[in-house]
Amino acid sequence: MKHNVALSFADGNTLFFKAGHNDLLMDAALRHGVTLPIDCREGVCGTCKGLCESGQYEIEYADEEALTGQEAEQRYVLSCQTRIQSDSTFYYDFASSLCNQTDQPGSLKRTATITGLQDASADSTLLALTLAADQTTLNFLPGQYANLHIPGTELTRAYSFAIGPQVSGELQQLTFLIRKLPNGQMGKYLHQARVGDTLELEGPFGTFYLREPDKPMYFIAGGTGLSAFLAMLDVLKEQPESVSYPIRLYYGVNRLEDLCEQHRLDAYRTQLPDFDWTPVVSNPASNWQGSTGYIQEHLPLATLRDAPFDMYLCGPPPMIDAVTHWCADHHLDNGKLYSEKFTAPVS
Ligand SMILES: Cc1cc2nc3c(=O)[nH]c(=O)nc-3n(C[C@H](O)[C@H](O)[C@H](O)COP(=O)(O)OP(=O)(O)OC[C@H]3O[C@@H](n4cnc5c(N)ncnc54)[C@H](O)[C@@H]3O)c2cc1C
Ligand code: FES
Repeated sequence: MKHNVALSFADGNTLFFKAGHNDLLMDAALRHGVTLPIDCREGVCGTCKGLCESGQYEIEYADEEALTGQEAEQRYVLSCQTRIQSDSTFYYDFASSLCNQTDQPGSLKRTATITGLQDASADSTLLALTLAADQTTLNFLPGQYANLHIPGTELTRAYSFAIGPQVSGELQQLTFLIRKLPNGQMGKYLHQARVGDTLELEGPFGTFYLREPDKPMYFIAGGTGLSAFLAMLDVLKEQPESVSYPIRLYYGVNRLEDLCEQHRLDAYRTQLPDFDWTPVVSNPASNWQGSTGYIQEHLPLATLRDAPFDMYLCGPPPMIDAVTHWCADHHLDNGKLYSEKFTAPVS
């Protein structure tokens, strides 16, 4: 038995194909040349999330961080875990152009050399990489991420690009802002990594990326979740004439010494027409004069209620969940939320 499946996208494109009964949505789409964005393939990362607008399906497995119970009730699905049971239509909140990135197997892999290792805060490092001269340029959208292989292991870890694409020179530079967990595999590697070491990476991945800046934008960063916003702000500062709405970044950290890249954030204030940022420190030293507590306690509710807005959230899942619930509790239906949760890896 064959079912008619339609996939529609945020750019208005709709793609059609036929799928067998019980086919995995991701596989059926791929057989018809539609490469839905995926990463873990195990129902854990949430990269492949879409919305079933009509039809019957079964979900094999969904980690709560990838698909919350509430999202499941609203008929959101993970394409890598969705088995088609009838004619159906699915909606994806990203442009259809993201569906052809992986059509050449292996085309996402790159080799790079470490060209910089710099402490960015008490517990995070800015890792600068330069792609080898024979590697093709890595095109990515600001907000997307790459999987970095940890040398000497079989492990990979996901990191958001922390500078915009193509910003400097002939050899492509990439930067990642990485929190060094004391017992983390990547954390341990970074303690012994040296400039000149070689790293393999794969990407870009993800559907968290900067949309058309046609409304006020709120960037909500938790810890090294700042990285994705640094890439977005890099891109926006290259085209300031296209940014006619305010951009406000709220940057939450545990301690004052966890704040990163403050000079860069201050510089965006002069490089962009209407940008400002607010650090929010949950456990500050006693002499801290700035905002304390949690980010949602500092969001401008009256302004948010006033007009449509885009809100981007990136960082630890509890922070993203707290702000998302806050928006729902205050019925901020005029806002569109995009999020990237820094979930722990599968292995
Ligand atoms: C799409 C995506 C993008 C990401 N982008 C970034 C980024 O730009 N910068 C960044 O620093 N991280 C980012 N992360 C998180 C990153 O991939 C790793 O999970 C993190 O760096 C830990 O890796 P590790 O090898 O050091 O620790 P692991 O060896 O994986 O973990 C060691 C221990 O720490 C726990 N642990 C894992 N993650 C956390 C955490 N966040 N907080 C507390 N405990 C934890 C584990 O459960 C384990 O017990 C991203 C994650 C995703 C899914
Ligand atoms: S690719 Fe489907 S949840 Fe990760």
